[in-house]
Amino acid sequence: MPDNSLLILPGDGIGPEVMAEVRKVIDWFGDKRGIALDVSEDLVGGAAYDAHGTPLTDATMAKAQEVDAVLLGAVGGPKYDELDFSVKPERGLLRLRKEMDLYANIRPAQCFDALADFSSLKREIVAGLDIVIVRELTSGIYFGEPRGIIDDNEGGRIGVNTQRYTTNEIRRVARSAFELAKRRGNKVCSMEKANVMESGILWREEVQWVHDNEYPEVELSHMYADAGAMQLCRNPKQFDVIVTDNLFGDLLSDAAAMLTGSLGMLPSASLGAPMANGRPKAMYEPVHGSAPDIAGQGKANPCACILSLAMALRYSFDLGDEATRLEKAVEKVLADGVRTADLMQAGERDPATTAQMGDAVIAALDASL
Ligand code: NAD
Ligand code: IPM
Ligand code: MN
Repeated sequence: MPDNSLLILPGDGIGPEVMAEVRKVIDWFGDKRGIALDVSEDLVGGAAYDAHGTPLTDATMAKAQEVDAVLLGAVGGPKYDELDFSVKPERGLLRLRKEMDLYANIRPAQCFDALADFSSLKREIVAGLDIVIVRELTSGIYFGEPRGIIDDNEGGRIGVNTQRYTTNEIRRVARSAFELAKRRGNKVCSMEKANVMESGILWREEVQWVHDNEYPEVELSHMYADAGAMQLCRNPKQFDVIVTDNLFGDLLSDAAAMLTGSLGMLPSASLGAPMANGRPKAMYEPVHGSAPDIAGQGKANPCACILSLAMALRYSFDLGDEATRLEKAVEKVLADGVRTADLMQAGERDPATTAQMGDAVIAALDASL
């Protein structure tokens, strides 16, 4: 593999639309900053199913294992709703996460000042918000066995999923959270349901163990996940890093998205163990989905995907300064009042299109030179 290899998987719905804007940004860094990423592109999700009858081919999976980083747009859509569960678009994404062993999903929720009035909460509750949810991504109820839909032998059926966590699975994601906290506000809040689930009891004990034995200098608190959801809405700025399981992390990060103004703003990094070159195995993905309700209309906000590229520059390509440059460019565009429809209030008119938002980011990057 050449240096700085990036596999782009645009996927479905708005995935290819937002990825087209990311391509402009990648080209800009090549032309203006001499940063040559070796970019290749492949199919995932419904697009892969349409072409190959599977949401992820073995060849694409193998490629993802080889590159320095993967950037995924979004998968899924109504067209695929009736497909057999085993070939649904989402299975392609879950296979990537599982086989690459990307156990730590880093989901920052930062409220840019220019967007503080677009949150569904009051400005003073969200202005300046800067928290990170570390979601366990390769275990828990998403992957636990037994699972399936079985007959109950009385004419009915039983849907089964299993919440399951091992010591090692909890400890390694806890370490990711503590490491991150050390570079930020030095605070971790762990969320589970230890009051009703044995896996929650183990989660709490093991996170505490990692704290006491390896990170005693980081402040650790525990919260039941339902109370955590409430606190996230009541006073989100009390948090620095939240670490939680796969399902709770999925829900809490969508909730956190609305604190920042729009799901269209939230990037994420899914990280695994270090590879031979010392960089973590990694896939970058916006938190949002394929947004079928606006797909194909040029309405999608490309910022979440562009900011996911910024995370790739920082975590996979050792280009932290360039990542900051890109994040600042997005911030400037928002401060200048460029808005896709998701960032507008009722009654406001003439939203920027996906492409106009991408072009504005390029102009802000130019201005940064
Ligand atoms: P969604 O995130 O696609 O959309 C939720 C709402 O947010 C919609 O109203 C949508 O228009 C809006 N939205 C999302 N991203 C936006 C953006 N960038 N700009 C402007 N508005 C945006 O969630 P959903 O509707 O529950 O799911 C749709 C499909 O996406 C489903 O098939 C689901 O499984 C899939 N999905 C995929 C991913 C992923 O690929 N990582 C994540 C979540 C959902
Ligand atoms: C996400 C999505 C995925 C998840 C789906 C599409 C598999 O909601 O990335 O948040 O549930 O993890
Ligand atoms: Mn989700």
